[in-house]
Amino acid sequence: MSSSPNFLAMDANVTAETTTQSSEQTQSSEQTQSSEQTQSSEQTQSSEQTQSSEQTSGVDRRGFLKASAGAGVAAGVATSFFNRSVHAQGSDIIKVGLVGAGGRGTGAAKDAMDADSGCRLTAIAEITDDRLDGAKKNLKRTLGEQFAVPDDQCFSGLDSMQKLLETDINVVLLTTPPGFRPMQMEAAVAAGKHIFCEKPVAVDPVGVRRVMAASDAAKEKGLSLVSGLCWRYDLGVKATMEKIHSGAIGDIISVQENYLAGTLWIREPKDFWTPMHNQVMNWLYYRWLSGDHIVEQFIHSLDKSMWLHHDVPPVLAYGMGGRQVRTDVEYGDIYDHFYVVYEWADGTRTYAATRQMPNCFNETEDYVFGTKGTARVLANEITGENPWKFSGQKPSMYYLEHVALMKSIREGKPLNNGDYMCKSTLMAIMGREAAYSGEVIRWDDIKDSKMSLMPEKLQWGEAPAVEVHQPGSYSFNKTL
Ligand SMILES: NC(=O)c1ccc[n+]([C@@H]2O[C@H](COP(=O)([O-])OP(=O)(O)OC[C@H]3O[C@@H](n4cnc5c(N)ncnc54)[C@H](O)[C@@H]3O)[C@@H](O)[C@H]2O)c1
Repeated sequence: MSSSPNFLAMDANVTAETTTQSSEQTQSSEQTQSSEQTQSSEQTQSSEQTQSSEQTSGVDRRGFLKASAGAGVAAGVATSFFNRSVHAQGSDIIKVGLVGAGGRGTGAAKDAMDADSGCRLTAIAEITDDRLDGAKKNLKRTLGEQFAVPDDQCFSGLDSMQKLLETDINVVLLTTPPGFRPMQMEAAVAAGKHIFCEKPVAVDPVGVRRVMAASDAAKEKGLSLVSGLCWRYDLGVKATMEKIHSGAIGDIISVQENYLAGTLWIREPKDFWTPMHNQVMNWLYYRWLSGDHIVEQFIHSLDKSMWLHHDVPPVLAYGMGGRQVRTDVEYGDIYDHFYVVYEWADGTRTYAATRQMPNCFNETEDYVFGTKGTARVLANEITGENPWKFSGQKPSMYYLEHVALMKSIREGKPLNNGDYMCKSTLMAIMGREAAYSGEVIRWDDIKDSKMSLMPEKLQWGEAPAVEVHQPGSYSFNKTL
C-alpha cells in the first residue's frame, strides 16, 4: 500500500481568502441539477410520519434513552463507550460536525437533525472561506435552533477536517468529494467519532483498502459507521430485495442496471482560483477526486447488484465507454458513458449501462431476471409467477440513514456498513478500469492493486495533469 499524503502537511500554502460570492445561491441551483437529488424528491413521504410511527411504538425518546442507558450495562464495553461519548456532560445532546457543506452535506446535516431532535450541528469544515461563509448562513437558516456552531468551530482549508475532529463532536458527516474520503475515514476513526460517510468511499484500490482498514478499526472501537448508499435504507427497495432473496423470481439469471441521466453542474471560476481550486471545486470531472461518474454516481446501481448477489463480488468485468459529448477541457478527464459486463462465479451476469448526456432518454432502474419472474427494484415491483408491488409508506431514505445512525448511537449498538460500501466502490472502480483499458479486469487483481490516484502533494497552485485514458493504449493489467 502506498503511503498517504499527510493531511496536516497539505495546507502549508493555503492563504486566507476573502468572500467574493455567497455559496448559498450556487448550492441551491446545484441541488436542482443533481439527478440523485431528483430521486430523493421522489420519496415524497414526510419525515414526520416516521417520527410519529416511532412515537406510537410506546416509548418516547427520553424514555428510550433511559432504557438504552440501562441496557448498556448488560451490553458490555461497546455500549458503555457509546453512552459515555453521547452523554459527555450528562446531556442527551448528540454533537454533529459537518465536513463538506455542499449540496449533499447540507442535506445530510438536515437529515441528521430531523432524525433526532437531540442532535445539534456544532462544527463545520469547508475548503475555502467563501464556501464556509455561505455554508454557515445556509445551515443556520435551514437548521433553526439545531444550528449551534460557534465561530471558533468553523474551519476552512484543505486541513479543516483535522481541526473539526479536535472539537467535542460525537458524530462526523463526511460529504466532501470522495477522493479525500480514505484519509478522512482514517482520521475520524482515530479521533473516536461516529461516522456518516457519503458514497463512494474512495476512487482507487489503495483508497478502498484504507477505508476497509478504518472500518475494521471503527468496529473495534465500537463506533458506528453508516454509508450514504441510500437505497440500502429505502423501505420499498429493501422489501423488494427481501422478496427476491426469498425466491419470488426464482434463481437470478441476470441483472440489467440502467443509470441513464443528464449532466450535472459546473462551477464558474472565481478570481482567486488556482488550477487546483478549479479541480477541487469542479471535482466531478477529475478522476482523482470523483473516480469518474461510474464510481461517483453509478455506484448506486452497482451496489444494488452487489446486494442482489448477497454482497459477494463479481469475479471479472469487461466493458467499454468513452467521451462523446462532454469533450471540452472543462470536463477534465472523465468519460460520459460506460457499458460494463460483470460476471459472478455462479455464471450470473450484470449488464451495466450509464450515461451523463443531455437531451437523451433517461432511466434509472434495476431489472432482475429470474427463472420465475422479473423484478424492477426501484419500481418495487415483481411480475411473473408471484406478482407483487410494494404498497407501504416510503419516508425519505436519506432521513432513514440518519435515524439508523442516531438510534445505533443512543442504543449503544454500533452499526457498520463498511463491508458493502467498500466492495461496491471497488466494483465501480473495476468497471471503470475495464472500460478505460478495454481489458478483462479480475476482482482478485483489482482488490490488491497498488493503483493510487491521490497526488503526492495536496496544496493550492498547480493541479494534477489531466489525461483521458484510451482503450487499447491505456492498460490496467500492466500496472499489476
Ligand atoms: N447519496 C446520494 O444520493 C448523493 C447525492 C449527491 C451527492 N452525493 C455524494 O456526496 C458527496 C458530495 O457531493 P455534493 O453533490 O454535495 O458535492 P458539492 O461539491 O456540492 O459539495 C462538496 C463540498 O465539500 C467541500 N470540500 C471539498 N473538499 C473539501 C475538503 N478537503 N475539506 C472540506 N470541505 C471540502 C466543497 O467546498 C463543497 O462545499 C460526494 O461523495 C457525492 O458522491 C451523494
